[in-house]
Amino acid sequence: MDKIRIVGGKPLEGTVRISGAKNASLPDVCAALLTDEPIVLDNVPEVRDIRTMGRVLSQLGCDVAFRTGGSVELRAGTLNSVEATYDLVKTMRASVLVLGPLLAREGRARVSLPGGCAIGARPIDLHLTALEKMGAEVSVERGYVEARAPRLRGAEIHFNTVTVTGTENIMMAATRADGVTVLHNAACEPEVSDLADMLTAMGAQIEGAGTPTIRITGVDRLKGARHRVIPDRIETGTYVVACAVAGGDIEVQQCHPEHLRSTIEKLRETGIRIEEGPNNLRVRAPRQIKAADVTTLPHPGFPTDMQAQYMVLMSQANGACRVTESIFENRFMHVAELQRMGADVRVDGRTAFVRGPSALSGAQVMATDLRASACLVLAGLAAEGETIVDRVYHLDRGYYRIDEKLRGLGADIERLET
Ligand code: EPU
Repeated sequence: MDKIRIVGGKPLEGTVRISGAKNASLPDVCAALLTDEPIVLDNVPEVRDIRTMGRVLSQLGCDVAFRTGGSVELRAGTLNSVEATYDLVKTMRASVLVLGPLLAREGRARVSLPGGCAIGARPIDLHLTALEKMGAEVSVERGYVEARAPRLRGAEIHFNTVTVTGTENIMMAATRADGVTVLHNAACEPEVSDLADMLTAMGAQIEGAGTPTIRITGVDRLKGARHRVIPDRIETGTYVVACAVAGGDIEVQQCHPEHLRSTIEKLRETGIRIEEGPNNLRVRAPRQIKAADVTTLPHPGFPTDMQAQYMVLMSQANGACRVTESIFENRFMHVAELQRMGADVRVDGRTAFVRGPSALSGAQVMATDLRASACLVLAGLAAEGETIVDRVYHLDRGYYRIDEKLRGLGADIERLET
């Protein structure tokens, strides 16, 4: 298993280009199942989760070709299976996103239940109840969800919790349902809007994506399309924090500042100087970082996917603050590793109390999920001496070549291949 070695203390300088959004590409790839015509997606990041989703679709009989330069060509001419198997779903929960499209197109689907994961229990009950409301018969047998519906029908769906992939799954299912579906308390994340844009290009009728109420009028068929995936807002925020904790002055290119409004505002509150262009950010590290409380919330609030990175920033801030995780019940696994590096963090329930600034020292660390791993890389940039981050495959799931990108900014970082 590869490791990443970082020697901290080098300020960052230069430019970094942001890749396409992983969490937009995942549902976009699944949307290809809704038509037998060709789909081309551009600006797809070549990260492990996207490869895994490619394998899920290949198993169903969809042709999937990754081209150099970040394009993926998909064609679900005829499907030879409606099953997403445990061996793939267990490695990536987002595989559940094939459920809606398969049911809409084939009238049935069999998808392994994802089970718990490193950041919490993460059930998919809201996806299933919504499909039942649309007329599907859903049962859970031997660890698999089995769903059937000769034709889904439009329905009023009220999500009692905001769910990103739930909204995406049901939006996809509704594009080919009979009649109108209205999603209430829908997720407003930019990735949901990106999927709606792609589905619209395929001929779907969708209004209100990006707001809590989405109205989808089902159509009989969808056609092929070409779609460019939005930039990754979490990768963007991660590089902004990298610059702040390492020190320096960088330009983050090919990003979409509007998609990370609350992140930018919160990071400015901590003293980071951020100038916005239409598709770029100039970031200058402050001399002193200020402590500021944060609570994660659904979009447009501060994203849970930035919480671990923000905690590293706060470990370097002057003063004490509270970091509250309101989306997932168990997303503080990075804390123990940060403590080993010298951070002063105490967790009480869903809140972490962070007191800074702490002089971090390099250590051998590892994490069990993507964003926690990113946080350890950032801690390594801020630490004195050498940090070895183990289990790099977590980073490779969602960050395109993070070691190369940081090295391009002047960080002393290398991948140790084993
Ligand atoms: N929830 C339920 N029942 C459901 C669905 C969700 O109780 O049927 C709960 C979850 O347990 C959680 C909350 O609702 O407490 C929100 O979960 P959500 O469904 O929104 O999460 P998700 O769709 O599984 C996506 C991202 C995550 C990101 C969350 C929150 C993708 C592929 N994944 O997950 O991204 O943290 O939304 O924004 O889009 C990551 O990229 O590192 C990552 C984990």
